Amino acid sequence: MIHVQDLQFSYTSHPFIADINFTVPAGEIFGFLGPSGAGKTTIQKILTGLLTGFKGNVEVGGIDLRKSNRDLYERIGVDFEFPSLYEKLTGKENLKFFASLYKHHVAIDPLLESVGLINDADKKVSAYSKGMKSRLDFIKALVHDPDILFLDEPTSGLDPSNARVMKNIILQLKANGKTILLTTHNMYDATELCDRVAFIVDGKLVALDTPHNLIISHGASTVRYSYISEGEEKTITTALDKTGTDALLLQLVKENRLSTIHSSEPTLNDIFSFLTGRELQ
Ligand SMILES: Nc1ncnc2c1ncn2[C@@H]1O[C@H](COP(=O)(O)OP(=O)(O)OP(=O)(O)O)[C@@H](O)[C@H]1O
Ligand SMILES: [Mg+2]
Repeated sequence: MIHVQDLQFSYTSHPFIADINFTVPAGEIFGFLGPSGAGKTTIQKILTGLLTGFKGNVEVGGIDLRKSNRDLYERIGVDFEFPSLYEKLTGKENLKFFASLYKHHVAIDPLLESVGLINDADKKVSAYSKGMKSRLDFIKALVHDPDILFLDEPTSGLDPSNARVMKNIILQLKANGKTILLTTHNMYDATELCDRVAFIVDGKLVALDTPHNLIISHGASTVRYSYISEGEEKTITTALDKTGTDALLLQLVKENRLSTIHSSEPTLNDIFSFLTGRELQ
């Protein structure tokens, strides 16, 4: 659904986005994970036709982005980083207006219902809270039932229960066959939602794989155990795959002398710092 080959782009004379290559098949949730300023929004703006003047090949839904094509906007839904809504119109009027811009649209009320805004549908957006605006902006991207969605930080600024609602809708959209490209700097969201994740740092794509593969291929799980020796608690950390040959651990197990034992798996954040030397947040 999305093909990006040798993408390069710069806002100034200084090169920024460079050598970005990836393909997103239909029905996948693909994530850009990276710290603030990495270039996630910039790449999304290129893929949605907002920034032109890039080098390389970009194809979205079979449409070559270097050729201007109105059909692209019927095919894609975009939830921008910052809500863009008409404050003087109600939530419902906003959705009706945006739906009227497309050839094809879906029923508005079920969309409002899905994000818990049906009872606020007739309130002016100026009276909405930040989280309500985020949710309205999100369903605005769905009014024309697009097959490809670009979601820029879809859960940012939402409380945990609304973030949960949003993540469930994203998973439901995937189950309905939509292709989704989202950006995040939240490793939990990336791990839970994304089939594959691209690490983005300083405009470059540093790694690309499933969250599971990124974690197992670059990080070792560890086991930490403690026991009492000569009246003092001692704590040992060992690699999970070395526990079978850890004579002390085996002896403590046999003698039933372990005080505590914990395993810990690396997180996507650990792998991100390991590969890029940078922190996500
Ligand atoms: N219109 C612009 N003109 C010049 N520079 C820009 C413009 N928009 C963004 N930049 C710069 O490009 C870099 C990447 O910005 P971008 O918005 O793509 O980052 P991001 O990864 O989405 O970050 P965040 O997580 O904070 O949203 C930043 O250094 C930013 O200052
Ligand atoms: Mg951004």
